[in-house]
Amino acid sequence: MTSKSSDLGFGDGYHFFRSQLAKPVLPPNGISVTGQTAILTGSNTGLGFACAKWLLELNAGEADATELHKKHEGAQIDIWQLGMLSYKSVQNFAAKCRTLEGLDMAILNAGVIEQSFQLSPQGHEKMFQVNYLSTVLIYFTKFPNRGSDPFLSTFDDKANFNTSEQYPTSKILAHFWILKLAEKVKKEYVIVNLVDPGLVKGTEINRAVNHIIKMIFDIVMWGLGRTMRNGSSTYIDAAVLRDEETHGSYLMDWKI
Ligand SMILES: NC(=O)c1ccc[n+]([C@@H]2O[C@H](COP(=O)([O-])OP(=O)(O)OC[C@H]3O[C@@H](n4cnc5c(N)ncnc54)[C@H](OP(=O)(O)O)[C@@H]3O)[C@@H](O)[C@H]2O)c1
Repeated sequence: MTSKSSDLGFGDGYHFFRSQLAKPVLPPNGISVTGQTAILTGSNTGLGFACAKWLLELNAGEADATELHKKHEGAQIDIWQLGMLSYKSVQNFAAKCRTLEGLDMAILNAGVIEQSFQLSPQGHEKMFQVNYLSTVLIYFTKFPNRGSDPFLSTFDDKANFNTSEQYPTSKILAHFWILKLAEKVKKEYVIVNLVDPGLVKGTEINRAVNHIIKMIFDIVMWGLGRTMRNGSSTYIDAAVLRDEETHGSYLMDWKI
């Protein structure tokens, strides 16, 4: 990890603007997930909560879902505790997932940004653990015997910690993982893809970031951020609308 990699040029700015201004692809009328089972991590707030609303709307075929339980009495909503800083909690969560009769989609959305170097009780840097290790662990505990991931101790070393690089790096690791996983898992069995919701305003992702940086982010988000409804529709696009063509793919701006 060098400081060079965080330098932004004109091309990056152009791609960022173009991406943020991309036209959303919302689910067309008639799309239904009725009778399907979904796992959605990090669904108490932000993009996860917005995505849960989408799933319920597609379940009931309604356009407005503000009070989830009240409006969608037909849907079964189970809230399960998950603490991704603890492997025990992740394994307990995945064990519950294994009790499901069937699973149509798993949207592993939970993620975190930390401003400073902090180790989890498991001894891993927090963003590395939540955004990558525990996310991957949910998959492997739900679908055991599908492979293993090497231990990357470099991310847990404070000497390597760079505030602006650790979050994107923890996310990039998932790209490598998806590529390898897609080689090992048959798309007829599970379709795996990786989605970038774009920059989305109104979520709590910057809760641990210092006030000045947060203010700058808020201004950029205010001008350019996607709404939570549009941002979370990228998950619906990847998990509901798309099919085998996305296996092993990175989806951005509702495109492969
Ligand atoms: N907002 C954006 O612009 C943006 C852009 C690109 C990607 N993303 C990604 O989108 C995902 C959702 O982010 P968001 O913007 O919606 O942020 P958010 O509002 O902060 O939501 C993050 C979710 O992850 C959960 N989470 C965090 N740490 C956890 C842990 N240790 N164990 C279990 N759950 C944990 C949170 O639960 P608690 O509230 O209980 O902590 C929350 O439900 C993240 O993976 C983020 O990296 C966001």
